[in-house]
Amino acid sequence: MTDRNISTDSPEKRAAGVAAAGLVSSGMVVGLGTGSTVAYTIKELGRRVKEEGLDILGVVTSYQSEMLAIDAGIRLTTLSQNPELDIAIDGADQIDSGLRAIKGGGAAHTREKIVSMSAKRFVVVADESKTSTQLGKPVPVEVLPFAKELTVNKIRGLGGEPELRSAVKKDGPVITDNGNFILDVDFGVIRDPEALALQISAIPGVVEHGIFCNVDELYTGNKDGSVKIVSSQK
Ligand code: 5RP
Repeated sequence: MTDRNISTDSPEKRAAGVAAAGLVSSGMVVGLGTGSTVAYTIKELGRRVKEEGLDILGVVTSYQSEMLAIDAGIRLTTLSQNPELDIAIDGADQIDSGLRAIKGGGAAHTREKIVSMSAKRFVVVADESKTSTQLGKPVPVEVLPFAKELTVNKIRGLGGEPELRSAVKKDGPVITDNGNFILDVDFGVIRDPEALALQISAIPGVVEHGIFCNVDELYTGNKDGSVKIVSSQK
């Protein structure tokens, strides 16, 4: 489990998050992801708003990114007002050499996917621990509480072992920002992420899963402050 605390300093995450903020310029509408790595991007954008007069609008992906963006002084808009974003920047839990990612460690992947799919350019910020030749971490799947048993059975039929995510400092399951449950599903090594993504999406009651096949660029931060940039071959 990675450290999700946005107060813990991480030079690698900071390097990636701050570098990606450099892609943003005045006039842009920016999707703001969730998690401890993109928190550095949001703080850096806030610094540029205050110190450089950067003029942007943000679209948030969770209550966490909303609170961070408001604290940072970033003006916010909605997808209803601005359906097309110039760029979206977000973290990931795991990302493979083909830039397929697993997201949802913060249970925010439904809005994150909608925001990233609304953007002309989707950039993931991460530290080296997130990179892998193949995906194999449990896949977060947001499900309607009404459909829990059906989704559990159908996911088992796909070869996955689901575990209902439990809350911390609250008894019972995690309730997402959308009012749903999260199943963390162990599929072992995922040999064909695109095919699995389609199969999970086809289950009634699944709101959204955490397999992302739409990453354009990956910014990986290192301890020495350097950043490796990889672009998708799409
Ligand atoms: C939240 C996410 C996060 O972007 C992902 O969990 C990475 O978080 P962190 O940067 O804290 O490691 O998908 O749902």
